[in-house]
Amino acid sequence: MPEPRQKYTGETRFPLIMQNIHRYFFYAAMLVASILTYDTVLAFRDEHYEWGHMGLGTVVFLANAVLLWMYTLSCHSCRHTVGGRLKHFSKHPVRYLGKLNAPHARLAWYSLISVALADLYVYLLAIGAFDDPTLF
Ligand code: FES
Repeated sequence: MPEPRQKYTGETRFPLIMQNIHRYFFYAAMLVASILTYDTVLAFRDEHYEWGHMGLGTVVFLANAVLLWMYTLSCHSCRHTVGGRLKHFSKHPVRYLGKLNAPHARLAWYSLISVALADLYVYLLAIGAFDDPTLF
């Protein structure tokens, strides 16, 4: 088969340049994960705003925040940013974040499911389906 183009231009032209937009979503994802982490910290209070308490909802929020951070930090954009914007990671193994990056696709599914379950949990609490069970 002949190549349809004379020269490979990679992601420098439309439509593949649209893939580069994903890099900027990394920063938005960091913001969302930070807000969820703040919410998770607040979940360690009881209904009287006393600290040091925990309910099932706290566990749900905590698991959700951890999975979202793992997903966000395993993004290729994070690897690129933290790794010093290197183009060849194999030449700079100290800055290689491969261990966290390798399960990225699996973390995407886990975090997607955890977001849905956390939203469902909050929805059920909001409509009064049950009270958040207190652990301590
Ligand atoms: S979200 Fe960045 S590589 Fe998947």
